[in-house]
Amino acid sequence: MAKDALQAGKHVICEKPLATSVQDGRELVALAAQQGVRNCVCHNLRFYPMVQQMRALREAGDLGEILVVQGTYFQDWLLYETDWNWRVDASAGGPSRSMADIGSHWFDLAEHVTGLRVSSLCADLQTFHRARKRPKHSVETFANKLLGPEDYIETAVDTEDFGAVIFHMGARTRGSVTASQVSAGRKNRFNIEIYGTRSSVAWNQERPDELWVGHRNTGNEILIKDPSLLKPQARSYADLPGGHSEGYDDTFKQLFRRFYASIGTGDAPEYPQFDDGLRQLTILNAVLQSHGARAWVDVPTPSK
Ligand SMILES: NC(=O)c1ccc[n+]([C@@H]2O[C@H](COP(=O)([O-])OP(=O)(O)OC[C@H]3O[C@@H](n4cnc5c(N)ncnc54)[C@H](O)[C@@H]3O)[C@@H](O)[C@H]2O)c1
Repeated sequence: MAKDALQAGKHVICEKPLATSVQDGRELVALAAQQGVRNCVCHNLRFYPMVQQMRALREAGDLGEILVVQGTYFQDWLLYETDWNWRVDASAGGPSRSMADIGSHWFDLAEHVTGLRVSSLCADLQTFHRARKRPKHSVETFANKLLGPEDYIETAVDTEDFGAVIFHMGARTRGSVTASQVSAGRKNRFNIEIYGTRSSVAWNQERPDELWVGHRNTGNEILIKDPSLLKPQARSYADLPGGHSEGYDDTFKQLFRRFYASIGTGDAPEYPQFDDGLRQLTILNAVLQSHGARAWVDVPTPSK
């Protein structure tokens, strides 16, 4: 669909992951450049005000040198063998599931906030349900939880329910992340913790208006989202006064607003582009290679 739209000369916002292979991602990046159109991949989680605050704190040097980056993205909607979605089927969703579907958001955000790039990684993936009961009719995402007793088709599964990755970001920074779709009680628990030589930050998508800031020699802080309390670079990502939540829906608003505003201008894009989507496919490819080989794999760094 994205390729057809590009060939028709349209500006394109594409959902993540950009494609199901590096090769297809490269083709889209090249085609978008050739057509000279605006292109965006929907890594909308970058657009939470507190995510931009973490980035602004890092840019201002408040974190110091980043030593450790760690986190999780946990969900529970595919916990049972009766849970089904097109993502489970590699022929529809690609060879990776948890890491592609939600891990890609995590790596995109970790690189965006830290300004660092994952340079090598070691991955371990696990498919707990080697077979799932596929409903005979189609089921939209998250709707599986509302199904009653059904006629199911026993279907083999080879996409991962869980993934764990340890990684390097350059010579000194170290990190780890786990992504799961089988963790009871965790709905969309995107958690990231960044530890620097001066201070630390931690943020959890399920409490998006709160940012934990950790200090060694003074009390820790919990900053509550309020535009007047944010760094100037983060302020335009919060439209409402403090005390009025800005959540997941608002991240799309912030992304679409910047995308549409950029059309017809020569302005630098303030949103993730197709080459950022390709970047995630490159990391995913390394994850699959590493898991297959039970070994560390280098991740090529982007040219920009
Ligand atoms: N950025 C985010 O936070 C975020 C969140 C959820 C999903 N996504 C992405 O959005 C995409 C869709 O995921 P979803 O969870 O909404 O899936 P979904 O299964 O809930 O919905 C997909 C919809 O597309 C329709 N569809 C399928 N093939 C079609 C076709 N050929 N023509 C027209 N319509 C078609 C289906 O009928 C269905 O209504 C995926 O790429 C997913 O990774 C992104």
